[in-house]
Amino acid sequence: MIVLGIETSCDETAASVVQDGRYIISNVVSSQVDIHARYGGIVPEVASRQHLLSIMPVIDEALKQSSKTLDNIDAIAVTFGPGLAGSLLVGTNVAKAISFARNLSLAGVNHLEAHIYANWLFGHEPAMPLVCLIVSGGHTDLVLMKGHGDYQLLGHTLDDAAGEAFDKAARVLGLGYPGGPAVDRAAESGSPNMEMPRAWLKGTSNFSFSGLKTFLTRLKESGQIENVSDAAASFRKAVVDVLATKTANAAREHGVNQVLVSGGVAANRLLRQEIVNQSPVPVLIPPPALCTDNAAMVAACGYFQLKRKPVDRLCLDVKPSLKFA
Ligand code: KG4
Ligand code: ZN
Repeated sequence: MIVLGIETSCDETAASVVQDGRYIISNVVSSQVDIHARYGGIVPEVASRQHLLSIMPVIDEALKQSSKTLDNIDAIAVTFGPGLAGSLLVGTNVAKAISFARNLSLAGVNHLEAHIYANWLFGHEPAMPLVCLIVSGGHTDLVLMKGHGDYQLLGHTLDDAAGEAFDKAARVLGLGYPGGPAVDRAAESGSPNMEMPRAWLKGTSNFSFSGLKTFLTRLKESGQIENVSDAAASFRKAVVDVLATKTANAAREHGVNQVLVSGGVAANRLLRQEIVNQSPVPVLIPPPALCTDNAAMVAACGYFQLKRKPVDRLCLDVKPSLKFA
C-alpha cells in the first residue's frame, strides 16, 4: 500500500510517499523556521498562511521525488491534531479534497502517535510490548504500547514540555531560535558543572520542568551565569537525566522488549546517549530528520491505522487539543 502523508500541525509543511508503512520513497519538509525566527517563536497566523502557500508545491515535490503520480497512491494520511488550529486546517482540508477528488482512503492521524511510527521507518521492526518516550515542543509523554493502536499513557509532563523547556532556556541564555538545537550545540562545548534541580516526582512516570526553567532564569537575573556553554550543558544534563532515568524505570517496571524515543527532542545528542546507557532493553531512536516533524511518520502511522480501523470520512475535523490515548 502506498500512502501519501501530509503534515501541517505546527511550522513545518511536509509531504511524503511511504510504502507499506516502512519504506520512505520520498520525504519533503518545508520549514518555516526562518520566518518565525524574527519573532523568537511561532506566530500561529503567520504559520497557517505560510502552509497555504507551501502545501501544494510540497505535495507536488514529494510526488515528483517519488516518481509517482496521484494515480499510484492508495491512501492519504493527514495529521488532524494536536497542533495549531489554523495550521491543521490547511493539511486536513487538502487531504480531504484529494481523497474526495481521487476516491482515495483517508486516515486522520494523531500527531503524537505518528511520532512513535518514525521508528518503523529506518529498517527496524520495533519489538512490542515497548515503552516510548515522546518528547516534542508541546508534549512529554511516556507511553506503553502493547500492539498497534494499543496504548497506555504511563505519564506526562505536569507543566512545560521538554522541548518547550529547551526553547525557554535558549531564550534566557540568549542562544536564539530555535532553542533546542541551540542549547544542544552550546552544551557540546560546555561542562555540566553547575548544580541544577531535577523534579523526580518519585513513584510516578510524570515529569516537571518549570522549576528548572525558573531556576535558570533566577541564575541569569542574579548574574550568576559566567559561562553560557556551562549553563547550557548543566541545563541539558538536568533535563536528560530525568527523561532517561524515568524511561528506563518504566521499561523495567513493565517488562518490555524495547524502548523507543521520538519527537523533536529525540534529536538531542546527550539524550540519545543517555537513554541507550540506562535502558535495560534495546533502544531505537530515529535519525534526527525523522525525530522532528515530518510527513513520513504520518504516512507510516496512517498505514497501520488503515489496517485496523475504518477509513475516515470527509467530515473529519481538526482537533487542536487531541490527547494521546
Ligand atoms: O516534534 P517537533 O519537531 O515539533 C513538535 O511536535 O513540537 O519538536 C520540536 C521541539 C522544539 O521544542 C525544539 O527546540 C526541540 O524539539 N528540539 C530539540 C533538539 N532539536 C529539536 N531539543 C533539544 N535538543 C535538540 N537537538
Ligand atoms: Zn511533533
